[in-house]
Amino acid sequence: MSRRALVFGGSGAIGRALVGRLLAAGWTVDALSRVARPSQPGLHWHLGGFDALPALPDRVDAVLSCGPLDHFSLWYADAGPAGARVVAFGSTSDATKQAADDPDERALAARLREAGDRLFAAADARGAAATLLRPTLIYGHGSERNLGRVVALARRRGVFVLPADAGGLRQPVHADDLAAAALAAIDAPAAAGRAFALPGGETLRYRDMVARTLAVLAPPPRLLTLPAPLFGVALRLAHRAGQLQGLPAGAVARMREDLVFDPAPARAAFGYAPRPFLPEASMFPD
Ligand SMILES: NC(=O)c1ccc[n+]([C@@H]2O[C@H](COP(=O)([O-])OP(=O)(O)OC[C@H]3O[C@@H](n4cnc5c(N)ncnc54)[C@H](OP(=O)(O)O)[C@@H]3O)[C@@H](O)[C@H]2O)c1
Repeated sequence: MSRRALVFGGSGAIGRALVGRLLAAGWTVDALSRVARPSQPGLHWHLGGFDALPALPDRVDAVLSCGPLDHFSLWYADAGPAGARVVAFGSTSDATKQAADDPDERALAARLREAGDRLFAAADARGAAATLLRPTLIYGHGSERNLGRVVALARRRGVFVLPADAGGLRQPVHADDLAAAALAAIDAPAAAGRAFALPGGETLRYRDMVARTLAVLAPPPRLLTLPAPLFGVALRLAHRAGQLQGLPAGAVARMREDLVFDPAPARAAFGYAPRPFLPEASMFPD
């Protein structure tokens, strides 16, 4: 008999890839969305969100979360099915935004850490095994944040401006590699009860990540670098003119910081093998 998975966030960039991989591996999938979606053989969509949950199956082999971890951890602690394997996505922002200048970013980091602690405590109380997967910056089809924001700004102006010192290291990770990681973690005994950072398979400088992304677009917007003091002045003017919506102030400050994580523990525990950074134009629809 096929195993049954309950998937939260199944419509997002990771979630879509994960649902596809589960079906291909012979699982029956129950997925939740706040938007009505057509079911298909093996996949049943339930309409609802955490604030208005529909009736969900209570006997499942695995529960997977690819949406907001704080909501999921509260639901799981309150009503998670007993005995199911749990694999949930958090974020390395729980560490990288811990000491951010922006109080909202610090609050996000704290919420993510609390949610992770809550998840493990609730799993322990149920005698279930939980795994927390913490991706770095995600890209891929259906991922609209991060590089999607950069692309939107660049397309609007035909040019994207960076400070010359935007050399912080990044490890963008493809959403499908994260889906593969979640599927592998379910059956990996070494993944039980642990959290893993999931960086991408290539470490590159922020400006090179942006340059490679813009280069795949048609037509490719220009990438302009300004000396840091001049960039600071341009940034203040653009903020004042309301032209930087969608680009949080902290994101600019972090362009200079190295945000690097070690894939080795995930590789050892469940064979994590992410691809190098390969953006494609189709990932950034107009
Ligand atoms: N994007 C990144 O760069 C990044 C980096 C590190 C970690 N992460 C983490 O990775 C996971 C997936 O990220 P993502 O960007 O692919 O997805 P996301 O935008 O955070 O959400 C994925 C799905 O979750 C559902 N969802 C969102 N808010 C919800 C709510 N309040 N109640 C119920 N469902 C809700 C949505 O489904 P419906 O609209 O169909 O209901 C959405 O499609 C998240 O845990 C995120 O925090 C993201």
